[in-house]
Amino acid sequence: MRIEDLQEEDLEDIVEWFDVGVFRFFKEPINVEKLRILLPLVENKRPSRIAKKVVDKNSAKIIGFVSSTIDWDNNMMHIRTLCTRPGYRCKGIGLFMMDEILKICFDVLKLHRAQLFVDEWNSAAVSFYDKLKFHKDGLMREAVKINNQYKGWYCMSMLAREWERRSIVD
Ligand SMILES: CC(C)(COP(=O)(O)OP(=O)(O)OC[C@H]1O[C@@H](n2cnc3c(N)ncnc32)[C@H](O)[C@@H]1OP(=O)(O)O)[C@@H](O)C(=O)NCCC(=O)NCCS
Repeated sequence: MRIEDLQEEDLEDIVEWFDVGVFRFFKEPINVEKLRILLPLVENKRPSRIAKKVVDKNSAKIIGFVSSTIDWDNNMMHIRTLCTRPGYRCKGIGLFMMDEILKICFDVLKLHRAQLFVDEWNSAAVSFYDKLKFHKDGLMREAVKINNQYKGWYCMSMLAREWERRSIVD
């Protein structure tokens, strides 16, 4: 596996397996145009969006991607979209991507906090972030209406000092 910047030409591939049910910010119909918001961006000489893809060295296929925004006022990375390609899940690719993006967040950019939002019913993703030792800051209970039912989402985070402790333990 190798990690590289996500690029415009990758979106045609990703659009095929992008899950609008999970990434509710994106509305149907999903297309490349809408996915441009995932791409890396530099503003005022600083990154305001960081996006990486994982490429399988043998097949040269994209097998996962992660996209985040940086809030420089508060020294925070918001991990907005993270996805492992269907058929490649539960093989450690997600952990690899998160490790890489958190290294950028804490070791390279020296930010204070990484955060993300995850739906409470997305049990695979909640277990995944638990495994990474993200802290559950809170549940936004009954915050979204899906098929006439109210459901919640968690805000989860990791602070720089928790990352350092984790690096030492690992
Ligand atoms: C969440 C997601 C990114 C995880 O990626 P992945 O590459 O499959 O994850 P990994 O193989 O690195 O999993 C690492 C750990 O996460 C947890 N995990 C991952 N998938 C899981 C599942 N289906 N059920 C329970 N736990 C799961 C486990 O603790 C696992 O560790 P283990 O293998 O020792 O049991 C992937 O399921 C995905 O792309 N889902 C669809 C998009 C999505 O939900 N994104 C997150 C939105 S916030």
